Amino acid sequence: MTKDFLKITDFTAEEIKETFQLAINLKGGESEYSKILSGKTVACIFTKPSLRTRVSFETGIYQLGGYSLYITDKEIQLGVRESIYDAAKVLSRFVAMIMIRTFSHKDVEQLAEHSDVPVINGLTDLTHPCQVMGDMLTIKEHLGKVENVKIAYLGDGNNVTNSWLNMASRIPLDLRIGTSPKTPPDATILKKAREIGLSKITITNDPNEAVSGVDVIYTDVWASMGQKDKAAEKAELLSRFQINDELVAKADANCIVMHCLPANRGEEITDSVMDGKHSVVFDQAENRLHIQKAIMIQLMRNING
Ligand code: CP
Ligand code: NVA
Repeated sequence: MTKDFLKITDFTAEEIKETFQLAINLKGGESEYSKILSGKTVACIFTKPSLRTRVSFETGIYQLGGYSLYITDKEIQLGVRESIYDAAKVLSRFVAMIMIRTFSHKDVEQLAEHSDVPVINGLTDLTHPCQVMGDMLTIKEHLGKVENVKIAYLGDGNNVTNSWLNMASRIPLDLRIGTSPKTPPDATILKKAREIGLSKITITNDPNEAVSGVDVIYTDVWASMGQKDKAAEKAELLSRFQINDELVAKADANCIVMHCLPANRGEEITDSVMDGKHSVVFDQAENRLHIQKAIMIQLMRNING
């Protein structure tokens, strides 16, 4: 039983499936947990911008009876104004839970280590676990299953890709990552996922090989937050991996197309695909709310025994 949710592998396969079921129940109107955060504050720390993560967490916290406190880098200056240890200890005296989006994954690990309350990773440079949990829920809704789904992730090997590899370490998948030799996912996370051996994991530089017959085509921006200075370089490396109608035609006829958003329309995905019949991108966005409520409930249940 984990105190924190910093990466998908913090949950067991059973806990992940339980979280999907809880999210489905919440989405269906289940109200058993509508007071679980009553009288409690959740600190939401953002040192990067956000639409989906901020609004879905704040809305979810409200729907669970709690109060959400939005804190930016201007106030907290984690590790600069005071040590992460001191900030963790102080926050733990005020709030019941911390959600944080920032650059360094190690900072978030340190915050979790020293805080007495659960910490949720709302995106770091290394991983974006809430996103891929919500995405797997969207896959379950559309394809009716989560196991052995054929997924092609095309584009930059980034925090979202790394979270797909972590998902593949818990749920058996046929995960194909189509990217350039210069933009691979994190080597340690990839090695771990391969050692666990639960999923078939293919890394390829050929977008056609990646999407052949798949159930899901997934993409994300080529240059993540904090890397916008590399946008031109990445665009050159990754333009072959754009999701367009021609590529979608090589996947299964009933495939779904996913993007965590925000998208750079016309770069990693065309308007035609994003607004087309295979696209489920707005279902993905909505499901962030339901899955994060389920994650918060799981963590509250864990600390309350
Ligand atoms: N997908 C996602 O996390 O969106 P935001 O950056 O808007 O939170
Ligand atoms: N990889 C993207 C995801 C945004 C939700 C980024 O980190 O900017």
